[in-house]
Amino acid sequence: MSGSTITPWVVGNWKMNPMQSNAKQLIEEFKQLLQQHPILEGACHIGVAPISVALQNVQQQFLDTNRVIYTVAQDLSRMAGTGAYTGEVSAELLKDSHIEHVLIGHSERREIFGDNVEIVRAKVENALNAGLTIIYCVGESLEQREAGQAEQVVLQQICDITSVVKPEQWHHIVIAYEPIWAIGTGKTASPEDAQAMHAKIREGLCQITAEGEHMAILYGGSVKPENAVELANCPDINGALVGGASLNAESFYKIAQAFANTK
Ligand code: 13P
Repeated sequence: MSGSTITPWVVGNWKMNPMQSNAKQLIEEFKQLLQQHPILEGACHIGVAPISVALQNVQQQFLDTNRVIYTVAQDLSRMAGTGAYTGEVSAELLKDSHIEHVLIGHSERREIFGDNVEIVRAKVENALNAGLTIIYCVGESLEQREAGQAEQVVLQQICDITSVVKPEQWHHIVIAYEPIWAIGTGKTASPEDAQAMHAKIREGLCQITAEGEHMAILYGGSVKPENAVELANCPDINGALVGGASLNAESFYKIAQAFANTK
């Protein structure tokens, strides 16, 4: 099954980077590139996920762009609403600040900050109930891949959230497949391996929801301008979640352009 009629997404995950002055410059350079060579909204959704204290600044800076650039939160609280939860930001508070998109389940959250299945599930439930769109991250470790468990692990991570997604909410979910061994390592999954996993994910999604055929499945893990076209050519790769290369305006622009032109 092919997801080639799906509008691709290219999202820059800035992680715990950069300093505000560098972020400002990065956005200005990116806006300039977009002005010189526009990428149509219908050709590619574009988003950036800055640190939480910069969300509104970044959103402001993109207001005068000739197209929508989504400002994406990197995470949210497992607690809903408002209340005595020091240090937390809930889905409702993001929505109240006009942040409509959020990453959930990134492997760095799962591995370093202990986001287990229950926590990830609570975050997904809260985000959907608040009306946010989720970029739900899945991916196997090198050990799991070498043990031949990659598909099983990834499909299980998708099954983990099915109990909290109502049938009408699936179209608010974008999947990001990020093999952990490819994140920040310079090693990318080969387009064949990535496409094979994306096809499995789509098959799995189609068994869960009729939306499965239309859902965007992004690839993440050392995506760069040099490999973006090849990845974009794969029928079930509907975009990219970009870490390191999104901190350079030209690289990020070229990746977005690759998906916009190829899809
Ligand atoms: P890199 O592109 O730096 O490998 O990071 C990928 C990632 O984790 C995006 O969420």
